[in-house]
Formats: sequence, C-alpha cells, structure tokens
Amino acid sequence: MRTVYVNGVYLPEDQAQVSIFDRGFLFGDAVYEVTAVMNGKMVDFDAHMDRLERSMSELDMSNGYERKDLLAIHKALIERNDLEEGLVYLQVTRGVADRDFDFSGLDAPLGLVLFTQAKSLESNPLAARGQKIVLADDQRWGRADIKTVQLLYSSLMKTRAKKQGADDVWLCRDGKITEGSSNNAYIVSHNNEIITRELSTDILHGITRVSVLKIAEAHQLKIVERAFSVDELMSAKEAFSTSASGFVNPVVSVNGTAIGNGEPGEVTEALRASYVRESQAASI
Ligand code: PDD
Repeated sequence: MRTVYVNGVYLPEDQAQVSIFDRGFLFGDAVYEVTAVMNGKMVDFDAHMDRLERSMSELDMSNGYERKDLLAIHKALIERNDLEEGLVYLQVTRGVADRDFDFSGLDAPLGLVLFTQAKSLESNPLAARGQKIVLADDQRWGRADIKTVQLLYSSLMKTRAKKQGADDVWLCRDGKITEGSSNNAYIVSHNNEIITRELSTDILHGITRVSVLKIAEAHQLKIVERAFSVDELMSAKEAFSTSASGFVNPVVSVNGTAIGNGEPGEVTEALRASYVRESQAASI
C-alpha cells in the first residue's frame, strides 16, 4: 500500500482523507503538477514548481509553500514508496470553506496533497507502437494555461477516444490543433521543421515542451511556433506529443488515417532518445 501526503501528514493511502467542503472538491478550485521520476530521481522539479507558483498566482491563491519543503515531501514520498519509475502528483486546493462562489473573504489554509504513481515511462509500449489519435472540438474553458484540476472535458474526450479504439484525443479550435488531452501536440513537416502551437492561454505551457524544443534546436531542427491545421496534421511527415508522463510519444494515425508511413517517425524517435538521456542526466 502506498504512503501518501495530506496536509502535513504521511499516511497509508486508505487512511488519507479530505473534507467534503474542500473547494477543490466543490468547485474544481485547485491546481496540480505531475513530475516524472526515473531511477528514483525527479525530472525538471524546479520548472514544475515554477509553473505551480504561476498557476496559483493566476488564481489569486496565496503561496504558502517553501520550495525546499515541497522538494522534501516529493523526495520523502519517492523514498517511502520505493518509486523507481513513475510520477509524483501534487495538488494545491484553495482550502476548506462553506460552499460559496465568492472566495474573496476566505482565510482558510491551502490544502496540499501528494501521491506517487508507479508507471513505466522509458519503455512505455505506446512509445514503441505509436499512438492512434482522434480529434475533437476544444470545448475547455479559456484558461488552458493554468494547470487546474478542472479536467472533465479532457477526461470525457479521452474516454470517448478509447471507446473508439484510439489511444488519445487531440483538441481543435477553429480548424487548428490546440493540444492533446494531457500533452502538447507537434508535427514534423516534410522539410523537418518542428511545428507546435505558440504559447498562449489556449494551451498548457508544457515543461517537457521546453526541454524538447531545446533538444530539437541542438539537433539543428528548425522550430516554428504557430498553430497548425488539421489538414497539415493529416499530411505531415511525423506527429508526436510531449508530457511528463509520456515524454516524447509518436502519433501514427489520426481519425484512422496514417501519418507518414504509419510508423513512429525517425525525428520523433531521435528526440525521444535524447530527451530520455538528457532528462535522466539532469534529474535530482
Ligand atoms: N499533463 N497539456 C496538457 C493539457 C496537460 O495536461 C499536460 C500535462 C501537458 C504537458 O505538460 P508537461 O510537459 O509539463 O507535463 C500539456 C499531465 C502529465 C497530467 O495531467 O497528467
């Protein structure tokens, strides 16, 4: 059984509890981060905590946490759960209060929950075979750049994708791809340009995206940050997604149509291999 962290205490997972009045539960008033662990060490910890602080600040959540304490909790959970490979999930909620849309007078302590999930990241079978994607309209709220726990639309669309025999969904706004259910989206053009939507409130500013674009640059690949259309995706040489939980993940078909030759692409595979190597080397 896992040991988890809830509001200052480490507990067996079946004893961990949060209040029914927690605003995370009642309003989705909470933000989160997911950090990858390889060989018992975290990838891009500081970048995840920077983004957490930004999410909190965008939602007017006071930041009551010291980075070193969050680091200590992450490390303690990895150790207590003997986590070699997988994820650490962290959630901060606005805290516990009687149900009220207005939180302006609220003076409750923030809620903090962390737990680990064992997962095969480096040798994920999906990376070897490539993902089948279906497309759906992006009907999420307009601040996809804030990492809130309001994930219902993405969760519904991913479930629908699975029912259709696909692995994941990519979302589209005005005929252009925004991002995946829980990953950023890319195409590789026939002249080996890496095209991915520019940062805005339409997408989450992925931590893996930053690392992978740096690696692509080091591979002498041209990076073009702009929205790409469904037509461009369908005729791309390669496509892939990035996230803390999937690293660099090839896409082999979209709505049943093969992308490129229908196999994971060579540019994608090279980026994945470099990403695994470099993030492992920099992990803490
Ligand atoms: N998801 N876009 C969305 C909508 C996401 O939820 C995520 C991450 C990303 C990629 O961000 P990063 O590279 O920082 O992981 C992009 C996490 C893994 C999740 O919800 O489980």
